[in-house]
Amino acid sequence: MENRNTFVAPSLLASNFLELGKEVEMLNRSEADWLHLDVMDGRFVPNISYGLPVIAHIKKVAKKTCDVHLMIEEPEKYVEDFKKAGADILTVHYEACPHLHRNIQLIKGLGMKAGVALNPHTPVHLLENIINDIDLILIMSVNPGFGGQSFIPKSYEKIRQAREMINHYKAHALIEVDGGVTVENAGSILDAGANVLVAGSNIFSAKDPEAVISALKHA
Ligand code: DX5
Ligand code: ZN
Repeated sequence: MENRNTFVAPSLLASNFLELGKEVEMLNRSEADWLHLDVMDGRFVPNISYGLPVIAHIKKVAKKTCDVHLMIEEPEKYVEDFKKAGADILTVHYEACPHLHRNIQLIKGLGMKAGVALNPHTPVHLLENIINDIDLILIMSVNPGFGGQSFIPKSYEKIRQAREMINHYKAHALIEVDGGVTVENAGSILDAGANVLVAGSNIFSAKDPEAVISALKHA
């Protein structure tokens, strides 16, 4: 279906780190809207990815919005550092933030868009009291920490609930879906009410990543 105004956010976790500059150039040429940058600390999630210096280098060549997904404990300690590294959108996990409202204000106060990510077991309604303060809900459709996992079907219901909540509160937040997103399930994810598709392995394991991005964009 055309004209859904979908945002495509390739996750560089699945890219070739030895050729990172070329990967970013490919994404610049492509129909991708954002670069999705996954930061993992080995504590909040059982994996370690990359951090501030890598993002700062990506920012120098990126022509797209830098969408940073923090899978770290105590994200508030690093909000200013990620702003300096070039984050345009900064997403923290609900499960990592006892003072979520304060953290959202901190992110927005520095001029970034603020997102909140929900693990598969975290109900959507927990965002009810801050839905009008955030720019993005990130629905994790796998358990965070690794690329290449299968989409959890229960996520469709969570996307629908998020869409209902946004409509009910007349909020402007986008709904981003992350984990196991492919050209095959993109249409159903968008039908459920999502606007932003994150995809890592489906894009970077393809022979023609730009064609996959295009297929997601027009799903
Ligand atoms: C997982 C990350 C995802 C990951 C998605 O913890 O948040 O962004 O890169 O990878 P795929 O698309 O391969 O599931
Ligand atoms: Zn992610």
